[in-house]
Amino acid sequence: MYSLALFGLLATAASGHMIMNTPEPYGMATLNNSPLDPSGSDFPCKQRSGVYAVSKMNTMAAGSSQILSFTGSASHGGGSCQLSLSKDKEPTKDSKFKVIKSYIGGCPGAGAGNSGGQNQTFEIPAGFPSGEYAFAWTWFNKIGNREMYMNCAPVTITEGGSDDSVFEALPDMFVANLAITTCKSAETIDVVFPNPGAFAQTAPSVEKGNPTGDCGTAAGGPPSAPVPAPAPVAPPASSAPAPPAATSQAPGEFAQRPTITMTAFVTVTGVPPAATSPAASAPAAPSSGGKSPCTGTGLLCNGLFQFGLCDHGKVTWQNVALGTTCENNAIVRKRSVAFRG
Ligand SMILES: *[C@@H]1O[C@H](CO)[C@@H](O)[C@H](O)[C@H]1NC(C)=O
Repeated sequence: MYSLALFGLLATAASGHMIMNTPEPYGMATLNNSPLDPSGSDFPCKQRSGVYAVSKMNTMAAGSSQILSFTGSASHGGGSCQLSLSKDKEPTKDSKFKVIKSYIGGCPGAGAGNSGGQNQTFEIPAGFPSGEYAFAWTWFNKIGNREMYMNCAPVTITEGGSDDSVFEALPDMFVANLAITTCKSAETIDVVFPNPGAFAQTAPSVEKGNPTGDCGTAAGGPPSAPVPAPAPVAPPASSAPAPPAATSQAPGEFAQRPTITMTAFVTVTGVPPAATSPAASAPAAPSSGGKSPCTGTGLLCNGLFQFGLCDHGKVTWQNVALGTTCENNAIVRKRSVAFRG
């Protein structure tokens, strides 16, 4: 009896599926609950006739909290999900999706079997640029065939930023279990995204496991670490207010950084960068891991080579991508770094 019941459970798990309900997907009339084709032929967004038909535009304000909900009961023991946004309203396989939320374990549901999807919450990062996007829910199921699920929805972001710094600072969407990549997630684990980004949530009952294969390019995003983390720089005496970067300090600080990256794109000019932003401020002490306190919202710099997104008073520092720096709380591409010289 027991083994029969177990067999029934597994058989159901292997054929079950989920559909995103909120935000309302594109092409609801033609969207079925199956995963992406293992060949990758319908990546992204389950390509089909009518794939980008808009039945409802989902409007979300930057900085607001939103609900992700599902239809269906076959949650395959949960797994890991990401929510991403692309500037391409009708994405193709070449479109770039940027991750605004990673759920490691417990998504779409936390139940052991096919207990159904649970509503999840997420936020549109403050400062995310206003405009129309394709929103994607991607899911790597814990139990059953190795699959990738992807539903897309039309989203309009309002009350957001006017530049792309917050967008560009987010990691690229993780892609696995399709023939277009060698990256694979293992069964019976909640896959740990190589680059989950600043807005990641780990379920209490997570059974973590790293993916295998080449997930680097697919996982992409800002810099897992092309530039070694800068050596910690002694903060100025904490009793005195920090002076602007002094002539004598800057070269010393730079001397501790890898020469190859500095000579690649640094030139010395006469203008000092602003030390703080009126919108937000970073803590005095750099932190190489975990979360640090911060105030304000949006993107913050921690020296020239680390950035983070301040969310509810916490920030996780990440290295900037090779060829970019963090200045005045924005990611700056290939240009000269200015400091008082
Ligand atoms: C889940 O979200 C949907 C859509 O917003 C809502 O209709 C439903 O009531 C929510 N369910 C629960 C249990 O909160």
